[in-house]
Order: sequence, then structure tokens, then C-alpha cells
Amino acid sequence: MKMKVRKAVFPAAGLGTRFLPATKAQPKEMLPLVDKPIIQYGVEEAIGAGCDQIIIITGRGKQAIEDHFDVSYELEKMLEERGKTDLLKIVRNISDMIHVAYVRQKEALGLGHAVLMARELVGNEPFAVLLADDVIDADVPCLKQLIDVFEEKQCSVLATQVVEGAAISAYGVLKGKPVDGTNGRLFEVTDLVEKPKPELAPSNLAVIGRYVLTPAVFETLSVTQTGAGGELQLTDGLRNLLKKEKIYGFVFDGKRHDTGDKLGFLKATVEFALKRSDLGEPLRQYLKGLKL
Ligand code: G1P
Repeated sequence: MKMKVRKAVFPAAGLGTRFLPATKAQPKEMLPLVDKPIIQYGVEEAIGAGCDQIIIITGRGKQAIEDHFDVSYELEKMLEERGKTDLLKIVRNISDMIHVAYVRQKEALGLGHAVLMARELVGNEPFAVLLADDVIDADVPCLKQLIDVFEEKQCSVLATQVVEGAAISAYGVLKGKPVDGTNGRLFEVTDLVEKPKPELAPSNLAVIGRYVLTPAVFETLSVTQTGAGGELQLTDGLRNLLKKEKIYGFVFDGKRHDTGDKLGFLKATVEFALKRSDLGEPLRQYLKGLKL
């Protein structure tokens, strides 16, 4: 029987050191892109891809994420009393959006470890993993594109993008065989390496933070040794999964913004604001007037 991808896991226990001091008392996932926290873009993408359960892996200091997806009685009451119906709708939509479950990762021991924390809540079914830092602007949600491949192949599928030059060493990198008739979009993965030195990278195909995984990955992660940075890496778990199952890499359609990086965050802010009907034009005028 073919299984549907219903659950989306968001590892969100990381310390966000790249954004200090902004992230000293605030989760990096709650930094706003224009007026919406980064993690909400991912949650909306998961919903748009057909998921109906969100599992967020949190840690200390991440309570603002839980509050964000919860009902805010005081705020709603105040907006209601002041007749601010538009804002009330926006605020209610967030808590009405979807069921969210939380698992606490006591120590930040790596992405593989974070995913393993979701084992009990996911159970024996395929699931998605979204890294909220990677915000992907696409006509068809990136995760939906991966799920379409999953539905055909019934194997794990990793979002993939070409990254040229030394920058490749910031990613999980795959080696793969192009699948005939897919125009170089789909690869059967033959090997995976986490953050290789540029000269050792097996290709220029980087893994981007969207995954559809089979539940077999939990078993392999539970016996995977710690790797790069002394952490349990998801990439290493997937490499072990290759011994049992096929994995595909899919070059998705869409623009990925690395909002975990300061420059990437600024670029995403400008691009998203320029697309807004209320802000786009005045921002464009302002930018044109800057002496650059
Ligand atoms: C993580 C993964 C890496 C992947 C990247 C995508 O790395 O470990 O394999 O390529 O996300 O954004 P991080 O950026 O958390 O160091």
C-alpha cells in the first residue's frame, strides 16, 4: 500500500549563534522575514504540501515558538475590543492552521539526533523534514515537489541544488546517477558526504533543507556514529540508509534563501518585501533613491 506523507518535522533546537545577539533571548526561527517568523514560512509550505501534523523539535529558550502557534487569548480579546478584525484574523489563522506537537531535544547533538527525537511521534510512516533556515520561494511548494517524487518512487527524496565552487563545503553533498528521462532533475543517490572539503566533494549537488524520508532512517540513525563537528549527522544516517534502500535527490524548482546567514537573511527580506502589494512599490522607490 502506498503511504501518504502526513507529518512534517522541524528541527528547531539549534542555538542560533550565527545571529547573536539577536538570538540571545529569542529563537532564530522567530526572526521575522518582513512580518512573519521564519518558521511560519516552513509550516505553511508543509501545509501546502498536504501535511496535517507538525512536529517541532525544540530546546531551551524556544518557548516563543510554542506561543506563536498557540492561541493568544489576551491579544485576541484586545484586537476584538478595538475592532481590529483584519489583525484578529491573521492572529487566529496561525493557531487554527494545524496541529503542532513538540519534542524537547535536551542537548543539541546534531541534526540526525534531532530527527531521531521525532521517532515515536512519527511512527512507521514516511515523513518530511524541513530546516526552517532554508526558506524556499516556489510556485509549487518545494516539499510538494519532493512528495510527488516520493509518491512515484516510494523511497526517500532529498531536495538538491547545484552549488558551485568552495561554497559546497557548507552542505551535505551527494553523488548520484541521473535518472533517464528527467532532464537532469532526478538523481539516484550513490553516496553522501556531510560538509566535505571542496576538493573532496563528490559533485556540486548540495542537499538543501527539505527531505522526505522513510521511517527506516530512524533505525539507521540510531546506529550511526557521530560525524562532522562531533555531531550525529542526518547525512551520515542517510548514507547508512543507502545500504538498505534507494534514495533520490531532486533538483527542485524555486529560489532558496539561506536565512541562517546574515546576508542571506537580508536578501530574503528585500525580495519578499518587494513582492508584497503593500510594501513592494514604496520599497522599490526607496531602494532606487539610495546612492549605491
Ligand atoms: C544542514 C545539513 C546539511 C544541509 C544543510 C542545508 O547543515 O547538515 O547536510 O546541506 O543543512 O541547509 P547546516 O546548515 O545546519 O550546517
